Amino acid sequence: MRKHETVERVSVSVPPELLRSFDLITKKRGFTDRSKAIQTAMRVFMSENEWIEENSSVMGAGSIGLLYNPKSKEIENALTNIQHHYEDIVTSSTHVHLNDKNCLETIFVRGETRRIKKLAKDLANNKGIKQVKVNFVGVI
Ligand code: NI
Repeated sequence: MRKHETVERVSVSVPPELLRSFDLITKKRGFTDRSKAIQTAMRVFMSENEWIEENSSVMGAGSIGLLYNPKSKEIENALTNIQHHYEDIVTSSTHVHLNDKNCLETIFVRGETRRIKKLAKDLANNKGIKQVKVNFVGVI
């Protein structure tokens, strides 16, 4: 038996160029219905931003990517110490030496999203960090 789902109709204003690009990419992804594509985009947006919620106890899994200048030894020690402090949620990490000015450290995490957010903040607060990218999915 098919479950009856209710929907709400909304009207949004979008620059034509953005809408054209959106339609093009959703068509390439195989969506035939713009509403379905927007629903998917909304879910991706929520999943990507769930970690912002301060008191969220939602469980999540994902990664924290850090781009930094390896010139200072202090930063490498700081990153290691912080990861030890969060050993309950850090599952593993990888390090890529990109060039003499850039290293990429990717830390894989699993646990409460509020704790993942706190870890990301502690990591981002170090001098020499150029970029922080948090990617995770909510595991409900
Ligand atoms: Ni390196």
